[in-house]
Amino acid sequence: MQNLSIAELLEAKHILQEIQIKGWVKTFRSNRFIALNDGSTIKNIQCVIDFENTPEEVLKQINTGAALDIKGVLVESQGKGQSVEIQVSEIIILGASNPDEYPIQPKKHSMEFLRENAHLRIRTNTFSAVMRIRSILSFAIHQYFITNGFHNFHAPIITGSDAEGAGEMFSVSTLDKKNPPLTEDGKIDFKEDFFGKETNLTVSGQLEAETYAMALGKVYTFGPTFRAENSNTSRHLAEFWMVEPEVAFNDLDANMDLSEDFIKYILGYILEHCKDDLEFLEKRLIDEEKSKPAIERSDMPLREKLKFVIDNNFKRVSYTEAIDILKNSKPNKKKKFKFPINEWGADLQSEHERFLVEKHFKSPVILFDYPANIKAFYMRLNDDGKTVRAMDVLFPGIGEIVGGSQREERLDVLIEKIKALGIDEKELWWYLDLRKFGTAVHSGFGLGFERMVQFATGMGNIRDVIPFPRAPQSAEF
Ligand code: 4AD
Ligand code: MG
Repeated sequence: MQNLSIAELLEAKHILQEIQIKGWVKTFRSNRFIALNDGSTIKNIQCVIDFENTPEEVLKQINTGAALDIKGVLVESQGKGQSVEIQVSEIIILGASNPDEYPIQPKKHSMEFLRENAHLRIRTNTFSAVMRIRSILSFAIHQYFITNGFHNFHAPIITGSDAEGAGEMFSVSTLDKKNPPLTEDGKIDFKEDFFGKETNLTVSGQLEAETYAMALGKVYTFGPTFRAENSNTSRHLAEFWMVEPEVAFNDLDANMDLSEDFIKYILGYILEHCKDDLEFLEKRLIDEEKSKPAIERSDMPLREKLKFVIDNNFKRVSYTEAIDILKNSKPNKKKKFKFPINEWGADLQSEHERFLVEKHFKSPVILFDYPANIKAFYMRLNDDGKTVRAMDVLFPGIGEIVGGSQREERLDVLIEKIKALGIDEKELWWYLDLRKFGTAVHSGFGLGFERMVQFATGMGNIRDVIPFPRAPQSAEF
């Protein structure tokens, strides 16, 4: 008896005797044809049963969602739509599924309904395709870095520092919430807490990654990060995964080169290794587009969009140039932007980023040299004294997908910056040490993994590219 996956069976070019297959029923029609899926591929295998010789009891239980154990022979298919099929000799119901109660019926469900059933939505074609691609994309990321001489570094999840200085952190504490110990001046006494200090879930592994880059040269982290920002958008999660390379001796130009090369590699990898799933999602998007008004339609099929990113250079544009373009743009003059661009120094919103990418340059864009006061404390100050060596990679349909910078490696400049922002120098003593002992130019960036999965799969909402999304007012499962 050969125990092969459906993916392997569909690849088989000849008749196979005595095979066994386990999976879940997608559909069952004419009391004869079972479409069975085991998760190995988006394709189902057709299992043809001998109606006359199958007990009524068994037939009754072949419902969508039921788990089956099937034995039979793999033969060339008589019908259209598949090259091989299984002639079933024995069928065992491993787990029945009550059709009156099972929520995932073979029909179109709304994304909202599926989010409420996130434990079962993976049984749909769409979610299984997205999550297989997510898995392969994750593998491609490790593959890219390891084969390019990077070391994988595991950043801590619980941290005492706020890397982005944005204060949007989830606290980690074992203190009694109703009756916490207090200091003399009435504040919570974190000295009594588990770690003897105030701690949070990390927003980024960058600061710790910098310490490792200063010895291992090229490192990367790939782990969960947490942000308590109250953003109910299709691009924000409270828990998301971030890929953060950090490289000693790289300046900002090298950092931009790395981000572009890296992104092109991982997209190329899924184009090659996720053909069936991408094809399915592409068709799904084309169907979806048909129901949209013409101006909202995307002009490129999914795989062409991925190829376009791989084949074209990302446009590199300074913040100052971008502001000029935006100031003089049609939507700005016609007051179409929710946040009008009036002067240099304005923070860019997603509407501006998407205008630059989708309307103006029509390609991915890397914006660099942002005003110092809208970026984090650790970015290297330029000689003009007002901009920093920051870079954001902007993508069509997504906006910011990568944020990074060349880091401030000069101790005196960094200390001055920290003081000006009112950050406690003592909290960052170890970070400052890096600038005292063998400091060097270094750079890195963070890629929002879910935003990349969104781009790669064409999914409209970030909550549909992570298994169990965490967002404001939402942490079921
Ligand atoms: O631009 P960010 O905040 O950069 C950093 O955290 C740096 N410390 C990274 C570094 O240089 N090592 O975040 C990086 C990326 C963003 O470009 C975006 O793609 C993603 O992380 N991101 C989010 N993704 C989903 N939900 C959120 N709430 C996100 N916030 C940021
Ligand atoms: Mg950013």
